[in-house]
Amino acid sequence: MNLEPIHPEFGARITGLDLSQPLADPDFDQIDLAINRYSLLLFEKQQMTDGAQLDFTRRFGPLEEEHVSYYSRGEVTYIGRVGNIDSAGNRVSARRIMASTGNEMWHSDSSFRETPALYSILCAYEVPEEAGETEFASARAAYRRLDRATRERIDDRVGIHDYIYSRTKVGADAVTPNQRTYMHPVRQRLVRRNPVTGDRNVFVGSHVKQIEGMPEAEARLLIERLINEVTRAESVYRHRWRAGDVMIWDNRCVLHRGCGYDAEKYHRRMHQTRVRGAVPSIAENLDS
Ligand code: SIN
Repeated sequence: MNLEPIHPEFGARITGLDLSQPLADPDFDQIDLAINRYSLLLFEKQQMTDGAQLDFTRRFGPLEEEHVSYYSRGEVTYIGRVGNIDSAGNRVSARRIMASTGNEMWHSDSSFRETPALYSILCAYEVPEEAGETEFASARAAYRRLDRATRERIDDRVGIHDYIYSRTKVGADAVTPNQRTYMHPVRQRLVRRNPVTGDRNVFVGSHVKQIEGMPEAEARLLIERLINEVTRAESVYRHRWRAGDVMIWDNRCVLHRGCGYDAEKYHRRMHQTRVRGAVPSIAENLDS
């Protein structure tokens, strides 16, 4: 197994492993350490199946239910469909394509859940010939760049994350009536800390609506400033997908967004699994 950085601030390509086969413990331990250090790992030329993806995901912790099926229809599935092709191989509805453009805003997966996702794993099966990239940026590198006064201002703050708030930015019907009923705003720490490396990061993204106890206008300015700091052009890693790519990222400290593509012309079929976080971010300790 070899590891090679793919961006000066975060991210690494790992070669020499076949993720379709059960991983030996020492190999898994190296991946586990690498994801804590590098926040984003790319494995290329993999021959994945849903079964292999689920097995790989479970090595990191419990699976998280895919949220659209869960909150819209009460269905539990652990494979999320990213792109424009459904599980029967058909193109998804125009409404679903429109709703998924919400992923084109910088976000952290499941930050709208009380216990947000730890990792996301995305396997590419079919990709557009042009566009359809995903961009990633390190919220840990951004925290390091902040001046001391800003760090002190945000360290103990709580952000309010709200899926309905963020998704309806792309259209009032981007959310279903059941999602409106069952998905409530949640409190998340504005600054998180990796328990393995000790690194702190800002925890922001499109789902953040407010900052607790801060006047709305001031909070909006601060949220936008922090997102801009994370996603400075030179700090972004833009991934051009190829079939067989598998990417795992740490949602605690990475923001990402889809880049859009021509969904009429091309197929984009990617399968996503998520590892459930251990505790609500609000219960995490920043110092130990
Ligand atoms: C996601 O937001 O998890 C998917 C991003 C993409 O469509 O590239």
